[in-house]
Amino acid sequence: MPKHNRCLPLAAVILLLILQPSAIGHPPTNTPITRFQNYLRIYTAHPNPDYNTAVNYLTSFARTIPTLQIQTLHFTTPDKPLLLLTWPGSNPSLPSVLLNSHLDSVPAESSKWLHEPFEAHISPDGEIYARGAQDDKCIGMQYLEAIKELEINFHYSPTRTVHICYVPEEEVGGFDGMARLVKSEEFKKLKVGFVLDEGQASTTDQFRIFYADRSPWHVVIKATGEPGHGSRMYDNSAMENMMKSIEVITKFRENQFDLVKAGLAAPSEVISVNPVFLKAGIPSPTGFVMNMQPSEAEAGFDIRQPPTADPDLIRNRIAEEWAPEWRNMTYEITEKGTLKDFMGRPLMTATNDSNPWWPIFKQAVEAAGGKLAKPEILTSTTDARFMRQMGIPTFGFSPMKNTPILLHDHNEHLKDSVYLEGIQVYESIIRSLSSFDNASFRY
Ligand SMILES: *[C@@H]1O[C@H](CO)[C@@H](O)[C@H](O)[C@H]1NC(C)=O
Ligand SMILES: *[C@@H]1O[C@H](CO)[C@@H](O)[C@H](O)[C@H]1NC(C)=O
Ligand SMILES: *[C@@H]1O[C@H](CO)[C@@H](O)[C@H](O)[C@H]1NC(C)=O
Ligand SMILES: [Zn+2]
Repeated sequence: MPKHNRCLPLAAVILLLILQPSAIGHPPTNTPITRFQNYLRIYTAHPNPDYNTAVNYLTSFARTIPTLQIQTLHFTTPDKPLLLLTWPGSNPSLPSVLLNSHLDSVPAESSKWLHEPFEAHISPDGEIYARGAQDDKCIGMQYLEAIKELEINFHYSPTRTVHICYVPEEEVGGFDGMARLVKSEEFKKLKVGFVLDEGQASTTDQFRIFYADRSPWHVVIKATGEPGHGSRMYDNSAMENMMKSIEVITKFRENQFDLVKAGLAAPSEVISVNPVFLKAGIPSPTGFVMNMQPSEAEAGFDIRQPPTADPDLIRNRIAEEWAPEWRNMTYEITEKGTLKDFMGRPLMTATNDSNPWWPIFKQAVEAAGGKLAKPEILTSTTDARFMRQMGIPTFGFSPMKNTPILLHDHNEHLKDSVYLEGIQVYESIIRSLSSFDNASFRY
């Protein structure tokens, strides 16, 4: 028996060797798709993203583009590098263009995936499965592929300098990444006039473009009141005061959501308010004491405001209606982002001719055969807010059309043909932005 068993697999191995196509002709191993797959295979998920391997990989690819200058910066610890590549323009006095992407990814639960999230498996119909395929390793590699194509195949050289930046920590708020870069001396020297950062996939045949992010606030409200027996009806208990607030907040939330449901506003154009925790009650060994009204209650809310919102209105609403002092309530607002830039202007980038970069960008997308959908506010937050805070026009754009929106989802994937088309779109955009030499335009 054992002898017999050992013979069969050997025969199978020989048969496999004969039948395997790779034994005859190796599939190409250095194409835009395999280079993308190799980037996707680097483990960049939180909580332990391997930034150095990612930076080394990008650096070795950048070295194949002769004129690219390479710098690795550290603003915090050696395990959080930031890669900055520079494609020097012939007229360095012009404001430069910055193409940004982040190195890190959110975690992936591999048991919920069809394919391992860091294997970059490609299906027979060309779908590349990987964490980061859409968010946002695609754009990071597409920038470089496009520049390589422009320099080596088209012998094109830019007038304006183009910087390509790979930052750590975006998925955890950007505080040790882009937030540090924009405050640095190095950043000043870049003289950035315009930024492209990540966007999102589009399920239609138009590309999406984002001119603002919503700004997140975390709000915790607290109520206090006389404790009492569970049998007694009296006014102004902590729970009663809290429930009154929740009613008022729920009404506000409904009004905002109704605008969306009626088609009068996009979800990202309203102020969203969502309860995220409720904390009250007197714990007992089996749960909560049921015959006591507690003297404290607490609730937490995630609030997102578009840049068109007036932050003072919400501040006043919280103080006067959601957690009024006269109802014995207190509150704490943690503003995780601002709504205004350093000049006090709303944190958004104009999508009309008042922004000279807009027509150039739009025409470049169209020249590549693409169409832009109506510009949108992103429902969430990206590193783009740090550049907008500096007053620099910034668009969120990831050229993925006819593609399901899978960022942060199980089975994140991107089709090879969509990825390759994105390279063409960036070739057109980078060429247009970097050859735009308008003597009357300075930022
Ligand atoms: C607030 O607390 C004070 C002092 O305990 C109490 O007299 C008053 O009735 C409370 N008011 C409300 C609205 O809870
Ligand atoms: C362009 O857009 C900005 C921001 O949305 C707006 O304030 C401005 O009035 C617009 N200008 C023109 C000429 O339409
Ligand atoms: C340069 O930019 C300004 C401001 O956007 C615009 O008014 C002007 O027409 C542009 N000039 C050229 C030559 O493109
Ligand atoms: Zn992202």
